[in-house]
Amino acid sequence: MVVRAYQHSLRGSHLPAGQPVLEVDAVSLRFGGVKALTDISFTVTEGHVHAVIGPNGAGKSSLLNCISGLYHPQEGEIRLHTADAPAGGAPESENGTTGEVRTHTLTSLAPYKIARLGVARSFQNIELFAHMTVLENLMLGRHIHMKKSVLASMLWFGPARNQEIEHRHLVEEVIDLLQLQAVRNKPVGSLAYGIQKRVELGRALCLQPALLLLDEPMAGMNAEEKEDMARYILDVHELAHVSVVLIEHDMNVVMDISDRVSVLDFGKLIADGTPDEVKADPAVIEAYLGAEDDDPAVREAVALQEQASEAEENDRG
Ligand SMILES: Nc1ncnc2c1ncn2[C@@H]1O[C@H](COP(=O)(O)OP(=O)(O)OP(=O)(O)O)[C@@H](O)[C@H]1O
Ligand SMILES: [Mg+2]
Repeated sequence: MVVRAYQHSLRGSHLPAGQPVLEVDAVSLRFGGVKALTDISFTVTEGHVHAVIGPNGAGKSSLLNCISGLYHPQEGEIRLHTADAPAGGAPESENGTTGEVRTHTLTSLAPYKIARLGVARSFQNIELFAHMTVLENLMLGRHIHMKKSVLASMLWFGPARNQEIEHRHLVEEVIDLLQLQAVRNKPVGSLAYGIQKRVELGRALCLQPALLLLDEPMAGMNAEEKEDMARYILDVHELAHVSVVLIEHDMNVVMDISDRVSVLDFGKLIADGTPDEVKADPAVIEAYLGAEDDDPAVREAVALQEQASEAEENDRG
């Protein structure tokens, strides 16, 4: 049976939905002569799935690396807003505010500090411990919140034991949400690719993120696996209330599951809006036409635009 009422909040911030959670402000990043990102600004709203799309080499992973602290942009600022739990565990007040809202400038912080603030991510290539079980990999996702020493945990007594049990409960909820029960004790390396990607999503979720960054979580999947993954991302979003920044190539998936889309091309932000706005944007169509394109969603958008301009010409003629 799937339990959908969670004892632990899997979301690590109490920011009310609709408020800005992440602000990318005039960010530029260079590698020698390569301009990976040029003057990028956009805002991610709490409660949204925010997609970042663009052709190969557009700068999507670089942008995620700037947010998670692996790269430090030469210009601009990235700010994360979080809110504490309301005092005494009181329910959220009527105007939607909770505890104190804090703003953190991420731009020059080390990755582990950004992770501690609640920014969790998955990587374009799977980064899990292949010989360890699913459960062990997920428990490792919790290490950042563990206060007792590893030695104490190994000796398994007193507070360390209680802490371990508490973490275990939260991990069990992640296993339940992502339906990993059947593989919990299997080594990650023995699992199908699609399930490994789901474990990676789970590990990021175990951090109780304020914001979840996913770098192409559906890359290399067939249509059915992609559909599955999209559903799990939506579950994370809708049931665990976690805000998500999602990099994805497949336009169909993006248009289906995102609330907002930012489009990068050659390191520049060429569009930012709702999926419908972005799909109809000539600059976006142009960028995707210039790139290799076997994407039905783009072909459809291009065909629609061609039809419209033909109709316009016929009207004139
Ligand atoms: N560590 C690095 N050193 C040098 N150049 C880099 C580095 N990381 C990224 N780049 C360059 O920055 C540009 C953007 O790369 P990035 O990986 O961010 O693109 P992407 O949109 O994620 O592409 P893909 O869809 O292929 O994953 C590319 O020209 C890339 O070669
Ligand atoms: Mg990339």
